[in-house]
Amino acid sequence: MDYLEIEGGRKLKGSVKISGAKNAALPLIASTILAKNRVSMTNIPNVADIRTLLQLLKILGAQFELNNSDLNIDTSGVSSTTAIYDIVRTMRASILVLGPLLSRFGHCEVSLPGGCAIGQRPIDLHLKALEQMGANIEIKNGYVIAKAKNGLRGAHIIFDKITVTGTENVIMAAALAKGKTTIVNAAKEPEVVQLCEVLKSAGVEIEGIGSDEIAVVGSERELLEFKPVDVIPDRIEAGTYLCAGAITNSEITVENVIESHLDAVITKLNQMGFETETKNRSITIKPAAKIYPVEIVTSEYPGFPTDMQAQFLALALKAEGTSIIEERLFENRFMHVSELMRFGAVIHLKGNIATVNGPAKLYGADVMATDLRASSALVLAGLTAKGKTKVHRIYHLDRGYSKLEEKLNALGASIKRLKE
Ligand code: EPZ
Repeated sequence: MDYLEIEGGRKLKGSVKISGAKNAALPLIASTILAKNRVSMTNIPNVADIRTLLQLLKILGAQFELNNSDLNIDTSGVSSTTAIYDIVRTMRASILVLGPLLSRFGHCEVSLPGGCAIGQRPIDLHLKALEQMGANIEIKNGYVIAKAKNGLRGAHIIFDKITVTGTENVIMAAALAKGKTTIVNAAKEPEVVQLCEVLKSAGVEIEGIGSDEIAVVGSERELLEFKPVDVIPDRIEAGTYLCAGAITNSEITVENVIESHLDAVITKLNQMGFETETKNRSITIKPAAKIYPVEIVTSEYPGFPTDMQAQFLALALKAEGTSIIEERLFENRFMHVSELMRFGAVIHLKGNIATVNGPAKLYGADVMATDLRASSALVLAGLTAKGKTKVHRIYHLDRGYSKLEEKLNALGASIKRLKE
């Protein structure tokens, strides 16, 4: 297994180009199951989760070519509707094939994703919504067995909780259903918006895009003619690099971003004393004379993103004072706390609230990644800790960040990828 060895204490400078958003590309790739034509997509991120989903679609019978960040995919040859455990267990977002497979074929068998480090990650809301659309859902031998032999029908769905992939699954299912589906309490993340825009440009009637109430008129299983897709930039990758600039108190620029997607993140950086400058799709962060403590409560978009919580918890270690960070979306998303304490951090955890004492004297240590965003927080801490840090089990990192050490080294960091 690979690990990263980081020489801490270095300043960063320069600019980094942000890749396409993993969490936009995943539902978009799944949505090609609804396409009658070969679909071309650009700005696909080079990360493990994308390769996993493409592998799953290949097993189902799809054909694709992926050259760097350009993807061409044709799902006309899909003949199987079984998403196997071996793939789904490695990437729970595979559940995104459930809605499109069911609405196109009228049946599918998708392995239950199982939980992961950050929480139990149930899919009850996905399943309840599909049942309301006329599906018969059974759980057997760890698989969701879904049937709708006459196809799905439009329904009025009210989500008890806001769910990103749940909203995406229902939108894709509704795109081929018979009649109109309304989704109340829908997720509004930019990645959900792009999925709606792509389906709308493929001829699906969709109202309320970007709001918490979405209406979709289905095509009654008529496959869709997709236009070429350019995946939006990854706001979480961009936020992570901005935190790299902040934690080393350096001036760096992230390029190819959509600033409005980072409003909540920029606001918190400003509150901590970091000035930021946004111009034509780039954001520059400047060193802070004094780093102030921060209060963060994670919430659904456009609130502060849970996927940036770990990175800001690491950054809060540099603040002069006590920061309070509350995680409201996931029940176990503080796995990075015990690892950060190995650097010498003083953090108190009580339920889903972390109290972070700063400024902390951080010394390089051996630490272990536990989940995707936690591992990026450990890298950030390693950038500023005195001495050498080794971050183990970085396969977690590779799921969502492409060429992280290369991009950071190009900014002046000193990181080596080595074998255990
Ligand atoms: C998406 O996960 C993202 N993944 C996650 O990013 C992100 O952290 C999360 O949204 C929240 O923003 C992708 O888009 C591929 P949810 P998702 O359904 O859709 C509960 C990363 O780092 N819930 O919005 O799985 C659930 O337990 C990943 O890139 C139910 O109770 O998250 C959680 O508490 C990590 N029942 C809350 O809702 C359900 O049926 C939000 O989950 C579904 C969800």
